[in-house]
Amino acid sequence: MSDVVKIGIAGLGTIGSGVIKSLLRNKSELEKKFKFQFEILGISASSKDKERSFDVDQFTWFDKPIDLAKDSNIDLVIELIGGDSGVAYDLAFESIKNKKGFITANKALISSHGKELSKLSESSNSFIGYEAAVAGGIPVIKTLRSGVILDKIDGVYGILNGTSNFILSRMSEANKSFEDSLLEAQNLGYAEADPSFDINGLDAAHKLSIINSLCFAEFPSLESISIKGIENILTLDHKYAQEFGYNIKLIASSSKKGGNLRKEVAPTLVKIESSLGTVSNVSNVVCITTEYNGTLVLEGEGAGEGPTSSSVLSDVVDYSMNTRNYLFNKKSSDLSDPIINKDLIERCYYLRVFLADQKGAMSNLTAILGKNGISIDQVIQRGGVHLKDEKNFTPVIMLTHPVDSDSIDSAFSELIKTDLISMDPIFLPVLKDNL
Ligand SMILES: NC(=O)c1ccc[n+]([C@@H]2O[C@H](COP(=O)([O-])OP(=O)(O)OC[C@H]3O[C@@H](n4cnc5c(N)ncnc54)[C@H](OP(=O)(O)O)[C@@H]3O)[C@@H](O)[C@H]2O)c1
Repeated sequence: MSDVVKIGIAGLGTIGSGVIKSLLRNKSELEKKFKFQFEILGISASSKDKERSFDVDQFTWFDKPIDLAKDSNIDLVIELIGGDSGVAYDLAFESIKNKKGFITANKALISSHGKELSKLSESSNSFIGYEAAVAGGIPVIKTLRSGVILDKIDGVYGILNGTSNFILSRMSEANKSFEDSLLEAQNLGYAEADPSFDINGLDAAHKLSIINSLCFAEFPSLESISIKGIENILTLDHKYAQEFGYNIKLIASSSKKGGNLRKEVAPTLVKIESSLGTVSNVSNVVCITTEYNGTLVLEGEGAGEGPTSSSVLSDVVDYSMNTRNYLFNKKSSDLSDPIINKDLIERCYYLRVFLADQKGAMSNLTAILGKNGISIDQVIQRGGVHLKDEKNFTPVIMLTHPVDSDSIDSAFSELIKTDLISMDPIFLPVLKDNL
């Protein structure tokens, strides 16, 4: 490689523009520190005439992003368009096929095509950087790709979606409803007009699938992850969880116990004073539990122009230093397709039902739970609390003793068939560890 890194950038939105501005601003410092020159040889986006936050005319414009990957003068292509198919996909494969370095912030692309990308990058000995695809400015990929390479990882637990964390924080700290908190997130520019992937857990699951690959030698895939979103959480759940000493957070986790690997995105009760419990608003956090280092905690900005651009630039530096890691820490022949385990690990659950104000309702409820092997540790039941249109039902909140997920599923199926309750019960896992 020459001493000049010649870069093509596709996608000039929030992150693409941020990368260009940051590279221009920090160019001389980076060049002094790393002894390489960084030149942007071409840029591309949908519309040349769109107003941008930097001067487009100082760079060569490419009408088609794919032409950046075909240009023999360009060494390194940075994809900041998004999506797991179409332009982003074509650009990735064309760049690697042409032995160029490829950097992306696109979790959907890495998650959906990790297997092919991993094989192709090995056969062409190409660099693929994707630090910005998980947790924005937090260097979690680098930590897992090289930082803890000799340690044995038992589990990773993270808050990986800033929008859902903001919503849950506002519900819990400002006593707002889910709908009002979502509206506030949208007004502040934290949530997309269509925030479904943030709320239904899919965004966090894409990121978890990548983290899981790095930790547990599986190709990324969503199918083996159990995914639940935050849409059914009520403001009162936060209040009751806090009475038990917990906050509710959307936790993405991949953890090994015995031979069992659990991969899950779910609203989870975490201890109020723990690292996971104290991270609020749009921040992200990742806790890595290891054999030799104990628990490592990385916390910071999970999205936005500044933090994400900084992660993209750290990949640019890695490329220039000729760093070549396997995409997911191991040779692709040593990675397996994701294993869908039966979840055998027992744990405690938070249960909330709206129970009919009728004689015998409580004993019928506990009978159903008991029949399914669920025993109760703590209960909260207060009269006078109702949902707006459900005057004849009051909330009953329970913490269970440890139980497996099959028992929870079968109790759920049985409960929704009865007229004991007014809306679907929620069962949320409880993380007892102080992470
Ligand atoms: N925003 C964040 O905080 C954040 C954080 C971490 C990772 N990421 C990831 O970074 C990537 C970019 O996100 P972003 O927020 O910067 O998105 P964005 O603001 O929507 O920008 C997307 C860019 O892609 C261009 N584009 C879209 N379709 C195109 C096509 N068919 N051909 C050529 N260009 C096309 C757009 O062109 P025009 O400008 O001409 O419309 C725009 O410049 C995504 O993969 C996202 O998941 C974002």
